[in-house]
Amino acid sequence: MEGQADLPVNNASFLGVSGFWQLVLARGGWYDCGLVVQRGFLSGGIWPFAHLEYPAVWSHNEKFQRLVGGGWLEQTFLNSISRVQLLFLGAHKDREVVRLVKQSRRKRKSLMSAYEMWIVHGYARAQSRLPGAMAEVGVYQGVSARLICEVKGDKSLHLFDTFEGLPQRTHADRNVHRTGQYATSVESVREFLDGHPNVHFHKGLFPDSTAGLEEKPYCFVHLDVDLFESTLAALEYFYPKMVPGGVILSHDYSILAGVRKAFDEFLADKPEGLVDLPSTQCVVTKR
Ligand SMILES: C[S@@+](CC[C@H](N)C(=O)[O-])C[C@H]1O[C@@H](n2cnc3c(N)ncnc32)[C@H](O)[C@@H]1O
Repeated sequence: MEGQADLPVNNASFLGVSGFWQLVLARGGWYDCGLVVQRGFLSGGIWPFAHLEYPAVWSHNEKFQRLVGGGWLEQTFLNSISRVQLLFLGAHKDREVVRLVKQSRRKRKSLMSAYEMWIVHGYARAQSRLPGAMAEVGVYQGVSARLICEVKGDKSLHLFDTFEGLPQRTHADRNVHRTGQYATSVESVREFLDGHPNVHFHKGLFPDSTAGLEEKPYCFVHLDVDLFESTLAALEYFYPKMVPGGVILSHDYSILAGVRKAFDEFLADKPEGLVDLPSTQCVVTKR
């Protein structure tokens, strides 16, 4: 079970408490919740906040992810955490960008926190100095695409999505997402991004939707596809096309098993290392 190895029970005086919680909660996914509670006690912090230093325990739990993922609970959590993040960002960062992130969050639904949006915007802005086009796989309502549009200048931005929601998951993804989840209308996204030049929509299942697209170098690719096969297909397609110094940024690396597996397997024989950001994102910079 995820997270168990990270959580040695190292305080003998609390063995009674540990045993109690294991007895009460050691059923399927609830075992992880038990460890969270235990860890809250063992870390000597103030429960229930103490367990937040070990978020991997609950955030990796399959049942928890299925229950919460994409629903109002996740939105409420993201909105709350983003409010705090925006407060911190507003205290020392560029006010214009803080405003942009705030507005983007208000206009459309997204599964990204304010910090994660900040990171997408920052990388897209930095990468816009390199030659090559930009791309995003996993557009949904267009929030991250809009942030890229704001800083890409005249560069081409290729947007790939079924716009009919997630394709079927595989075993590597565990039982977290539903087929068709995050379906949206491509017309509404077009409208949302209206006015930004050189934005190209590729509706359909990636990588089939790349058929006929001419070979071109890319300087920045944003992946937000949630699934193993989609992530792997995107890495296989874009990695050889990245310019030196080109960046592939992905959402959900540290919380979705399929995304993590795709990156880890794909990079196993590559010279590039991966940076696991303090958000859920990861970054690979092409040599
Ligand atoms: C979490 S949403 C993307 C969120 C978006 N980046 C945002 O700013 O809110 C995931 C998206 O990935 C798309 N997707 C996943 N696998 C795909 C594939 N193989 N081909 C096309 N779209 C895919 C889904 O249709 C869905 O819209």
